[in-house]
Amino acid sequence: MKKIIIINGPNLNLLGKREPSIYGNTSFLEFFANLKEKYNTITLSYYQSNIEGEIINKLHEVGFAYDGIILNAAAYTHTSIAIADAVKAIQAPTIEVHISNVHSRETYRHLSYIAPNAKGVILGFGLQSYDLAIQSFL
Ligand code: DQA
Repeated sequence: MKKIIIINGPNLNLLGKREPSIYGNTSFLEFFANLKEKYNTITLSYYQSNIEGEIINKLHEVGFAYDGIILNAAAYTHTSIAIADAVKAIQAPTIEVHISNVHSRETYRHLSYIAPNAKGVILGFGLQSYDLAIQSFL
């Protein structure tokens, strides 16, 4: 069975409550339960942290054991050389995802330190961005 993990960064634990006009009304756990049902032939796991170092530790932990990583590093995408280095250091291919179209938002969201080290980037499709990333691994 393929092992795929979704890793969400800071403030994404507030999905459903946080700026719903941008991020929607659905909580991630609700959405994740549906994803697990839809993709029941793979092992799909989920991790969220608001702490940069914890995200790096998780990347190290899964990065040599999983078949794919779906990473929404949230605001750390635009700031963290350390997370970008971790993505480069591990073996598992990583897809960068974003719920919103970061290119239609503030200019400080246009830069991604992670994208050059990612297998691909999917953004702007709401929560469906995660679904599309899973499909790309199948
Ligand atoms: C986000 C976009 C980031 O710019 C922002 O900081 C987030 C969420 C997205 O999924 O659209 O927290 O990664």
